[in-house]
Amino acid sequence: MTTQRSQWASRIGFVLAASGSSIGLGNIWKFPYVAGKNGGGAFVLVYLLAILLVGIPIMMAEFYLGREGGKDAIGTFARLAGKRSPWCLVGWAGVAAAFILLSFYAVVAGWCFDYVLKSACGALTLVSAGEIASLFGELLSSPGQMIFWQTAFLLATGLIVSRGIQNGIERWSKIFMPILFLLLFYLFLHGLFSSGAAQAAHFLFFPDFTSLTSMGLLEAVGHAFFTLSLGAGVMITYGSYLDRQADLFSMAVKVTSLDTLVALLAGMAIFPVVFSAGLDPAAGPGLVFQTIPIVFSTAPMGGLLAILFFLLLAFAALSSSISMLEVTVAWLVDEKRWSRVKATSLLCCGAFILGLPSVFSFNLLQHWTPVGSLTFFDFCDRLVTSYMLPLGGLAVALYSGWFLKRSATQQLANLHCSASWVYPAWHFLIRYIAPMAVASVFIQQLMTS
Ligand code: PFF
Repeated sequence: MTTQRSQWASRIGFVLAASGSSIGLGNIWKFPYVAGKNGGGAFVLVYLLAILLVGIPIMMAEFYLGREGGKDAIGTFARLAGKRSPWCLVGWAGVAAAFILLSFYAVVAGWCFDYVLKSACGALTLVSAGEIASLFGELLSSPGQMIFWQTAFLLATGLIVSRGIQNGIERWSKIFMPILFLLLFYLFLHGLFSSGAAQAAHFLFFPDFTSLTSMGLLEAVGHAFFTLSLGAGVMITYGSYLDRQADLFSMAVKVTSLDTLVALLAGMAIFPVVFSAGLDPAAGPGLVFQTIPIVFSTAPMGGLLAILFFLLLAFAALSSSISMLEVTVAWLVDEKRWSRVKATSLLCCGAFILGLPSVFSFNLLQHWTPVGSLTFFDFCDRLVTSYMLPLGGLAVALYSGWFLKRSATQQLANLHCSASWVYPAWHFLIRYIAPMAVASVFIQQLMTS
């Protein structure tokens, strides 16, 4: 298994891999629509606070655990806490979360592939907002088409993970991530000079707490975990590729800042279009697919830019899905001694099958609500984002804040940390603030539901 690990051994490779995992559909597809659904500003404020006070310390803790354990998520807890320790359950839950996540993530990522083709065929050029919305509706009502793209996406993910990542994703990340960033910046500028800019800024940055429900609060905290890929063992697995000299604080700050910047750029790219085209900010999962094509439909070289945008979005999704698959593959390869190809093939098939009811949630089974009013897709999303990831993160915080010896974590301070205040601040946040913040959001949610 170490063949795989050693591929990420360079620092820059590590930052790229961790940023690649965290920057994905969560930033460009999900953040704008969950912020829109939860009334904007207040949600964004809670999300930003969660990133700062909970996300960064937990990311550092995951890097640290992975580096100390030197194994996959389950193996890391087994090595650090003992094979029979209940803490191993945290590793198991992380692997399960990553797998469920992959199953429905691939469905949405498949939509990006479809939009690459739509843009290439000119279907998004010079069409009205209404036509763009109905194109999205057509895609959702066609399970065959969705399954085709879901399969294509899982195949691409599986192929890269099974072959190893060094020459694939690491090299591509260096090229594609900056282009995605530039393109988002272009869209951001476009948004800034459009008629809906002031309304969008007001919507995103002026908190109106009356519009934030306790479920919204939980979603904001959950989204912080989702967007930073925390609580699913990803950063533990990636941390196990790290050398001992690495400054975990500066790594976590780099990854988190990039991730947050991309989300805010995406928000400021999308909401001006929403307001100037008279769309509903709470339109749900279709938001990015119904707004961005409007910008490109009339822009000079819009067709080409649309192809590029959805291609890069698919690529961002790919660098995230690779990390989800990697968590589960690493476990089978490390602990069960499976070959990488066998593990990847089996897990991709499993994710495909589990993803089918998510595909059907938008068409054949759209009225099937197995839990409350949630479709299967919404249920998987809620289960992973609002429960499994924050609980996984909470467990990591409790374990590293209360159960690891201070002398062990002190290495965070002794070894190459940027400043002397970092370790005490980290220790305080991980011991008290992060667990209390996550737990209180859960308690509040339980009390109001
Ligand atoms: N952070 C990814 C995104 O924002 O799209 C999603 C993700 C990847 C969540 C890996 C969790 C995970 F373990």
